[in-house]
Amino acid sequence: MRSWTKVTQPWLVTVDRRSLDLMRKRRHFIVRRRDELQIEAELRPSTREDGLRWARDWAPRWPAAMAYEDAHWDWAELIELALALPLRFACYSLLADRRLQGLRFLEVSEDEVHLYGTHALRVSTAPWNRAPELAYRGVGSLLVAAGLWRSHADGHGGQMHCSSLPGAERFHRRNGMVRFDGVDEEGLARYRFMTGRSQIYLERLRRDGYWEESES
Ligand SMILES: CC(C)(COP(=O)(O)OP(=O)(O)OC[C@H]1O[C@@H](n2cnc3c(N)ncnc32)[C@H](O)[C@@H]1OP(=O)(O)O)[C@@H](O)C(=O)NCCC(=O)NCCS
Repeated sequence: MRSWTKVTQPWLVTVDRRSLDLMRKRRHFIVRRRDELQIEAELRPSTREDGLRWARDWAPRWPAAMAYEDAHWDWAELIELALALPLRFACYSLLADRRLQGLRFLEVSEDEVHLYGTHALRVSTAPWNRAPELAYRGVGSLLVAAGLWRSHADGHGGQMHCSSLPGAERFHRRNGMVRFDGVDEEGLARYRFMTGRSQIYLERLRRDGYWEESES
């Protein structure tokens, strides 16, 4: 990871609050694959308690799953970073059935955010949402949406970019992200959402029942 020390743009603190409000205006749902039951999920900025949940519920399950490319990401540390540097980073949690189902870490300013929109740095679904267990569907998809909603809240019109782990490239492509020419400094392929495709993505997610506008 690059140096995260520069802090700018105090107005983003307000924007983060707005993004939280935007999330409250929606209801989110994931699907329990076992019986195709739709379960309501809470999507919100991550708290320190989520870091504890990650350490307690996810981390012990990694040894059997070290093949996963994200097994070395320390989410407790990323949450701390977002809490410490809210002008630069944001972290979001998806919770359902009383469990932390997924996490999303974003860079919301600096680097190439002014060129390509929100920088999607990390996204992980819980170990039980991966093969062979595959407990819930839609966690990663909603966390992609969280980045797009944050992009809108920050005035980037749903534009978002990321460097992709090799195993996630198919996921990004099927979501409608487009590959940049070339690779990043770690040799990873880079993908981006432009406004039109991100809108299509969010609409598809809504049509498929993963979110709806809240009445309240
Ligand atoms: C990529 C990731 C976040 C997706 O999360 P998820 O909760 O499985 O995603 P969803 O359930 O919303 O998936 C929606 C669809 O995409 C598919 N999908 C999920 N991960 C995929 C992948 N890596 N490649 C291709 N398709 C994938 C799902 O099977 C599902 O399809 P279906 O509805 O036909 O079953 C998750 O697999 C993960 O945490 N991977 C490890 C970390 C990682 O690679 N992060 C991305 C870094 S760039």
